[in-house]
Amino acid sequence: MRVVHVASEVFPFSRSGGLGDVLAALPAEQARLGANVTVVSPWYATLSGTPQEVWRGEVPGLGPVGVGELRASGVRFLFVSLPAFERPGLYHPDDVERFCAFGRAVLPVLQALGAVPDVLHGHDWQAGLVVAHAHLAGWRTAFTIHNLQYQGRWNLAEARTWTGLPDWTFSPEGVEFYGDLNLMKAGLVFAEQVTTVSPTYAREITTPQYGEGLEGVLIRLALEGRLSGILNGLDQDRWNPRTDPDIRPYADPAGKAANGSVLRAEFGLDDAPILGVVSRLANQKGIDLLIEALPELVERWNVVVLGGGDPLLTAALHGWAYHPRVAFVSGLNEALAHRIYAGADAFAMPSRFEPCGLSQMIALRYGTLPIVRETGGLVDTVPGDMGFRFADATTEALATACRDARTTLEDVVEWQSRMKRGMELDFSWEGSARHYLALYRHLCSVN
Ligand code: GLC
Repeated sequence: MRVVHVASEVFPFSRSGGLGDVLAALPAEQARLGANVTVVSPWYATLSGTPQEVWRGEVPGLGPVGVGELRASGVRFLFVSLPAFERPGLYHPDDVERFCAFGRAVLPVLQALGAVPDVLHGHDWQAGLVVAHAHLAGWRTAFTIHNLQYQGRWNLAEARTWTGLPDWTFSPEGVEFYGDLNLMKAGLVFAEQVTTVSPTYAREITTPQYGEGLEGVLIRLALEGRLSGILNGLDQDRWNPRTDPDIRPYADPAGKAANGSVLRAEFGLDDAPILGVVSRLANQKGIDLLIEALPELVERWNVVVLGGGDPLLTAALHGWAYHPRVAFVSGLNEALAHRIYAGADAFAMPSRFEPCGLSQMIALRYGTLPIVRETGGLVDTVPGDMGFRFADATTEALATACRDARTTLEDVVEWQSRMKRGMELDFSWEGSARHYLALYRHLCSVN
């Protein structure tokens, strides 16, 4: 089975969130299971890593395009270099135009390299146009939604010439969406199979509450048997408290205490339990709910937050950082993330929606009990008798769940039993990787 994944980020070369993590772990696991796996992503100016240039040529309508290659964990990574990506950072306001250029370049590049796959698997809106072109070229295609909120929309009158798509596709049955080009919709409409990253989110997105306006399209996909949920796994080597080089390694609840001390010393915290948060600072993540709950939380917890994103949320957290029981570090910091997972007692994830979420799995594995809103992948990964779950996206519901956790913490036997069971859960990628491979085989068996 030859599969090409297409996505806008791939750890450790480029990453802003969970998407990048998935594009590292899933391809590697599929390669381990015997598939021939390639990942195609943009060659960002700020890529971590130095690809070897393997191709340079002209792509009609785009001018000169370059391709660099790296190999890791049995996977071939191809990085497509285009003028629009020669600047720092991953994402920019003109991304629809930039990823249209990327979307037109991928097929010609794969053809030039003799790397046409059995199945092309696109991820999120940045790969939507690639999926459309692949389908129109007669390739088999799968598409995975990691986050429906970001759709890649732009006024159609302006954007149609960017896409290289035939005129008939600019209709409500195609890529048009309320007068805009919608690249997420391009992926949904043109992929033979659409998946999302948890079974619960797959159901949720067929409702107006979670469908982000695309619920009509998604209901149709579901009725046609073209929509399913495949739960993400976790890279259990990268996230292993027994061997993690960034922490004081431990294999049982007792060994965790030393990491709490490290975190307390680092941020000058007192003896109260630590509530950790590692998150993109976005409305999706319910960080505003957490901030509103802080006056109550600091009475009985130290709160340590690591994350970057929304400037208003960032400013609000900076404002709180003067408090002796609040620590806030803005941005991405891999090593500190590991120290928080290891050092905190509980971990908060008050997400408004959560397609899968990876942090709650890491937290469980590190014996840090997650306090999560009951949505999407959080429902599918956090057992109610290990973590703490709440239904409403409100400050009060979050605060109540934290109160419950804080009371349970006093019962050392109960808390440690939850920790122990959580640490033993299996979140390996193997099951999911096999599930995707079965889906590809299904695609190849039908015409
Ligand atoms: C996005 C989603 C997150 C998911 C990740 C990987 O970041 O918000 O829930 O875990 O993609 O699929």
